Amino acid sequence: MASLKGHFITFEGGEGAGKSTQIQYLAEALRAHGFEVVMTREPGGSPGAEAVRHVLLSGAAEEFGVRMEAILFAAARSDHVEELIRPAVDAGKIVLCDRFMDSSRVYQGVTGGLEPEFINGLERIAVNGMVPDLTIILDLPAEVGLSRARARSDDRGTKPDRYEKEALAVQEKRRDAFLDLAAREPQRCKIVDGNQPADAIAQEIEKLAFELLDGAEPNGTDRAEAEPS
Ligand code: TYD
Repeated sequence: MASLKGHFITFEGGEGAGKSTQIQYLAEALRAHGFEVVMTREPGGSPGAEAVRHVLLSGAAEEFGVRMEAILFAAARSDHVEELIRPAVDAGKIVLCDRFMDSSRVYQGVTGGLEPEFINGLERIAVNGMVPDLTIILDLPAEVGLSRARARSDDRGTKPDRYEKEALAVQEKRRDAFLDLAAREPQRCKIVDGNQPADAIAQEIEKLAFELLDGAEPNGTDRAEAEPS
């Protein structure tokens, strides 16, 4: 029997980069080709992680410091990986995740100022080998992303979350950090210009995803591993 093995694709970027819209587009394109797709997000994605999400995004953990927040993000991630992501990938599905380990590297590591050894240690434990096959980094000037995120909060009548409130300079630093990260791991991380029409962005992302999936059958069976017919 050929072994079933799915794929894990993550989406990263600053605030208001359009990740959720693009995940939706990619999911539709993949499903149209017969792939089974699971859409998820961080922090959250599994019941345990969703409970921690509330603590983090409400700002309830903020007063306890960035180290505490980083550990909570990692706790949520570990639950999400073991309860949802790994089982889905092992079952041959394609998992699309809105933010993952690179957000911790950037938000807690770079702009949070935590030491790389601390972030790396948490990452190793939380990710536990489930490194994404492809990471799409939606790149956008910080002021464009921030004004989009603010408009979104206004439309929903919600207050900006703990992270959306931060200043432009911090967002710029995060943008640079995502670009640095992509330069260090060019095989996994692909930068897509988020400041273009949504359908142009979607086309670029689709191309990258289908390059990754080249050789994979819609049921998740890798052609290379499939039994000869
Ligand atoms: P969310 O409402 O999902 O916003 P977004 O649309 O920006 O993804 O909020 C997630 C917030 O949590 C976002 O501001 C980034 C932050 N975050 C971290 O700081 N570290 C992490 O590891 C993750 C996954 C998210």
